[in-house]
Amino acid sequence: MWFTTAWLLGACCGLTLGLDIYDGPKPDLSDTPFGYAAASTGGTTNVSAVYVVSTLADLKEAAELPYTKTIYVNGTIHGNELDDGSMADCQTYIDTTGSDNSASRQFNFTLYILAFNETYTALVDAAAEAGETFEGRNATEYSELLSHQNGWRPTVVATQKSQVGVRLTNNTSLVGLDTSAALDGINLYLSSIDNVWVRNLKLVSPADCFPAPETFPSSWNAEYDAVGLVTSTNVWVDGCELQDQLSGEYVVPDELDGWQVDRFDGLFDCEDGTDNVTFSHNIVRNHHKSLLIGGGTKEADRDLGKMHFTIFGNHFDSSASRNPLMRFGTFDIASNLYSYANDAEPLFEAAVERRADGPADAVFQYHLGVYNQSTVHVRANAFVATGAYATDASRLFTVSEATLPERPAHVCVDSASTSTLNGEAVDMDMVAQATVDYFVEEGRAVEGAVLVTCDGVADEGYELPVVLASGEDVEQYVLANAGQV
Ligand SMILES: *[C@@H]1O[C@H](CO)[C@@H](O)[C@H](O)[C@H]1NC(C)=O
Ligand SMILES: *[C@@H]1O[C@H](CO)[C@@H](O)[C@H](O)[C@H]1NC(C)=O
Ligand SMILES: *[C@@H]1O[C@H](CO)[C@@H](O)[C@H](O)[C@H]1NC(C)=O
Ligand SMILES: *[C@@H]1O[C@H](CO)[C@@H](O)[C@H](O)[C@H]1NC(C)=O
Ligand SMILES: *[C@@H]1O[C@H](CO)[C@@H](O)[C@H](O)[C@H]1NC(C)=O
Ligand SMILES: *[C@@H]1O[C@H](CO)[C@@H](O)[C@H](O)[C@H]1NC(C)=O
Ligand SMILES: *[C@@H]1O[C@H](CO)[C@@H](O)[C@H](O)[C@H]1NC(C)=O
Ligand SMILES: *[C@@H]1O[C@H](CO)[C@@H](O)[C@H](O)[C@H]1NC(C)=O
Ligand SMILES: *[C@@H]1O[C@H](CO)[C@@H](O)[C@H](O)[C@H]1NC(C)=O
Repeated sequence: MWFTTAWLLGACCGLTLGLDIYDGPKPDLSDTPFGYAAASTGGTTNVSAVYVVSTLADLKEAAELPYTKTIYVNGTIHGNELDDGSMADCQTYIDTTGSDNSASRQFNFTLYILAFNETYTALVDAAAEAGETFEGRNATEYSELLSHQNGWRPTVVATQKSQVGVRLTNNTSLVGLDTSAALDGINLYLSSIDNVWVRNLKLVSPADCFPAPETFPSSWNAEYDAVGLVTSTNVWVDGCELQDQLSGEYVVPDELDGWQVDRFDGLFDCEDGTDNVTFSHNIVRNHHKSLLIGGGTKEADRDLGKMHFTIFGNHFDSSASRNPLMRFGTFDIASNLYSYANDAEPLFEAAVERRADGPADAVFQYHLGVYNQSTVHVRANAFVATGAYATDASRLFTVSEATLPERPAHVCVDSASTSTLNGEAVDMDMVAQATVDYFVEEGRAVEGAVLVTCDGVADEGYELPVVLASGEDVEQYVLANAGQV
């Protein structure tokens, strides 16, 4: 699109030639953030900077504007949309990496995976040694080609990354115009910025074309969160639907040389001193590792004292783990609905009768991950399970990295509210304590490193938009209020 270039020239001079100013109808959304992001305003304070975008190029340009703005998204914007309007596939990223004769354009993901198989490469090398062909190829050349794959991968990864990544800037609202608004295969990232709203959007994470395997057959290190926050503050993500593909269905890993290729990273991952975030009224569906809050020990110093999150009114719909996983911060887990098929072996309680298997899905592992030094306030939440172990509560929590009794994690279960599992009251205090006891007994946690108590846990000091005291109320509220409008 030639006008994209014209607009780029405009951007340097503070003009907004290519962007459409929007003053049409707006979605009916409450403009009152709450929880830890209550002080955020997004782009609302600048009524003279309201834009509408429907292409990736326009979205990227609008997102870069160095002042307070609101960007409405009209329809579906595809992360693989090239400037000429055509859609890239994985081979496109390879074919456009570097210059025309770049060696890295010989990258081939199948060969990259095959090259990890030492039995296979030994056979190729033996054929080369013997001056024979291998699978109809010149074995000497093939061996050489296999040996370069790992080195070429980062350069083709960079091509996909720059295509599908959309960087937000300070003081921005990004809002879907209606339920057709979607960022399809886009990695929205917030890096060292402040004051952002992301609302009323389908947020579909990009499938990583070239993920790196970890342990055979199914552990992968894929890139591209649907939304990623690094060292960012005052962020409100509300009324969005986060998922693996536009249809909302789970993406079954593909098989390649015995590997089950999982091309998805987190849906909402936050790290490195991020603070004051409210994640509310979202639907998180059909995903494996959904919300990672706290990037790990290496970030402890930057996270401790920060990482305040309000997780309110969300629907975790077949989200197999990390709902969320929590490290180092303070987490208010209130009024969320968890619906899922529980086919995972109970950890410490008697199993109920095994039922028929459900549809292909990510295999459920756990909901609330209490990790290193986190403070988790659990209010009324509703758990609705089907599957072989629908009444098992042993995986509502998990405990990990619990090694420091002198700096314990805390699970504070609100005594004024009642969570439910399939409509029955569930004693979350008891379940949390039983989980801790189980991990201690297994030698996977140190006694005293997770305390199930509200002693020493400060009140959030804010009010939620609505206080729901029972799981039943939560279920109704979430079904009525989560997701796009
Ligand atoms: C508001 O938007 C205009 C563009 O319409 C921009 O020039 C101005 O700097 C913005 N104001 C603030 C406070 O960001
Ligand atoms: C949204 O896009 C459709 C075409 O896909 C167009 O007809 C409509 O005018 C656009 N709306 C706005 C507000 O830009
Ligand atoms: C990648 O390698 C596989 C296995 O040799 C082959 O089938 C496929 O055609 C190759 N892809 C390209 C684009 O060359
Ligand atoms: C590795 O390659 C050998 C030889 O082609 C094959 O028999 C084996 O199944 C492969 N291993 C895996 C884990 O795919
Ligand atoms: C295989 O390729 C190498 C390097 O290009 C070449 O020296 C050799 O002659 C080839 N072998 C056969 C059998 O064609
Ligand atoms: C964001 O907006 C606030 C309030 O309008 C302003 O004080 C601040 O400087 C802005 N930040 C940036 C980086 O423009
Ligand atoms: C955002 O604002 C902060 C100050 O609040 C500033 O340090 C940072 O550079 C800004 N980031 C961008 C991307 O403009
Ligand atoms: C986070 O919000 C609290 C008030 O709830 C405020 O005291 C603190 O300064 C905020 N932190 C950042 C980094 O904005
Ligand atoms: C927990 O965090 C502390 C830093 O506060 C670190 O020293 C320790 O290794 C972490 N423990 C685990 C098991 O990751």
